[in-house]
Amino acid sequence: MSVSSLAAASGEREAPFYRSVGNECGLFEQAFRQRLPLLLKGPTGCGKTRFVHHMAARLGKPLYTVACHDDLTAADLTGRYLLQGGETRWVDGPLTRAVREGGICYLDEVVEARKDVSVVLHPLTDDRRLLPLERTGELLEAPDDFMLVVSYNPGYQHILKSLKPSTRQRFVAMAFDFPPPGVERDIIARESGLAAERCAALVNLAASLRAMKGQDLEEGVSTRLLVYCATLIQGGMPILEAARATLVEPLSDDVDVQDGLLEAIRATFG
Ligand SMILES: Nc1ncnc2c1ncn2[C@@H]1O[C@H](COP(=O)(O)OP(=O)(O)O)[C@@H](O)[C@H]1O
Ligand SMILES: [Mg+2]
Repeated sequence: MSVSSLAAASGEREAPFYRSVGNECGLFEQAFRQRLPLLLKGPTGCGKTRFVHHMAARLGKPLYTVACHDDLTAADLTGRYLLQGGETRWVDGPLTRAVREGGICYLDEVVEARKDVSVVLHPLTDDRRLLPLERTGELLEAPDDFMLVVSYNPGYQHILKSLKPSTRQRFVAMAFDFPPPGVERDIIARESGLAAERCAALVNLAASLRAMKGQDLEEGVSTRLLVYCATLIQGGMPILEAARATLVEPLSDDVDVQDGLLEAIRATFG
């Protein structure tokens, strides 16, 4: 079983670009210093992951990111005995490594993970901050510079897949959403290199596309997709072609819904 984990030593490197919308950086920093776990919620592609990368680099802490999926078990986070060169050896999972060495452990889309994961998270989010490793008999106490961050998207949450109150009430929580127009324009311009006025036109378009959410669309067009669109345009692709590839096809497979989106795009860009 593969855990998509990525440990990035972030000590020296420059923080990746993150444009804040409110006081999210201040809140994150406080939570880190006060040893409180943090929950980020919001639609896909609105900057949650970028924010965590940015803060880890700013605080100079290693970041252990785990993209949770429905096969992810507690052992994927804590570790397991593996057969190596004829002998079995305990290998720490990303969560255990973060607890042993200090750093930020980020569980992306945590609601996707198996239920046994919350059993591991509960003692870690108590004020004692413990990680019991049943298999090795260890009881690890998280150091001051350990932080647990989890995120999920309430938008496409299954009834069966939501965080239980007993879990979510252990976190300081922050809601993310698509940034306000001026901020989103700046983000897209910075990420794609496309001129700000042209990015502003894409943001206007996004407003009308997002207004169609709910009718037939599960989720509004993300900042990420707007960055893709601007990147293709900046690379020389005609606007309508770029928009179809980034703002229509990724959003829906339904021909009628696609037509509706295309109509809004043509109304803006002719
Ligand atoms: N506030 C922001 N500052 C900088 N880039 C952002 C911001 N919000 C969104 N982006 C852009 O959108 C992309 C997707 O954001 P990401 O953090 O991966 O979304 P999420 O984790 O919420 O799904 C980023 O790679 C970045 O280009
Ligand atoms: Mg993400």
